[in-house]
Amino acid sequence: MDTVLVTGGTGKLGKHVVSALKANGAATRAMTRDRFPLRGRVSGDLSTGRGVMEAVRGVDTIVHCATHPRFNKVDVEGTKWLLKAAHGFGVKHIVYVSIVGIDDHPFPYYQAKRRTERLIEESGIPYTILRATQFQELVVAVAHALTKGPIVPIPKDFRVQPVDIDAVAARLAELAAGEPAGRVRDIGGPQAVSLAYAVDAYASVVDRTRRQVQIPVPGKVGAAFRAGMNLLGEDGEEVGESFSHHLVWRVET
Ligand SMILES: NC(=O)c1ccc[n+]([C@@H]2O[C@H](COP(=O)([O-])OP(=O)(O)OC[C@H]3O[C@@H](n4cnc5c(N)ncnc54)[C@H](OP(=O)(O)O)[C@@H]3O)[C@@H](O)[C@H]2O)c1
Repeated sequence: MDTVLVTGGTGKLGKHVVSALKANGAATRAMTRDRFPLRGRVSGDLSTGRGVMEAVRGVDTIVHCATHPRFNKVDVEGTKWLLKAAHGFGVKHIVYVSIVGIDDHPFPYYQAKRRTERLIEESGIPYTILRATQFQELVVAVAHALTKGPIVPIPKDFRVQPVDIDAVAARLAELAAGEPAGRVRDIGGPQAVSLAYAVDAYASVVDRTRRQVQIPVPGKVGAAFRAGMNLLGEDGEEVGESFSHHLVWRVET
């Protein structure tokens, strides 16, 4: 039985990845910064390197899902700690979850994701990189934040393609069980919709319907989102349940 370390294994995606790996018969270890981790978890901090060697010792495969708003420190620099440990212990496969459309996207978080991809690609460790569109949970969180006030400010002409987090987790678990495959086919949700539509759909489900005001977002970042760089391209694969299904079954109930 393979032992799989899941960085970010306590996060929104990572928890589902741990469950999917276990369901496939893997032994899992979820990394957390918590210094007194629960059973099945291991303490490690990618921002300092604390505990990372110990977390990686004895592991066959790593599924790397950790992320933090201080992404240069944690996602980029933290991946260097992880790769150093993975080299040291001869890890056979690292699976990284990334984001659709980040190649030339000026959004700073997306640039950090691309830099992290490159570190993995150039590490010499056999790898698989899966890019996914925005999780349904993220779109709901954005909609929740935007609908708090009496008027809803909507970035004009932004679109999203919310993806089912379970489908992303299942794909990552499947990839972790297979051979390293390099960059694999992007995945995303079955519907690309305007952010205005997604927010409105959320608002009607939670009974928070408000007047929307379209705000043009200036600059390169606004232009990149208006151009739909964050959406699945023609080669992408649509997976999982729709956003409407998520709203009805996961938000309303
Ligand atoms: N959100 C989206 O729509 C989306 C779309 C495509 C891809 N992704 C990617 O999916 C991955 C997971 O995203 P998510 O939204 O599930 O993240 P999340 O819920 O914010 O979870 C972040 C995880 O990272 C861990 N973490 C944070 N700082 C750390 C540090 N210094 N050292 C070690 N671990 C640390 C946290 O563990 P503790 O708090 O327990 O320490 C937690 O488990 C990310 O790589 C993200 O870029 C996200």
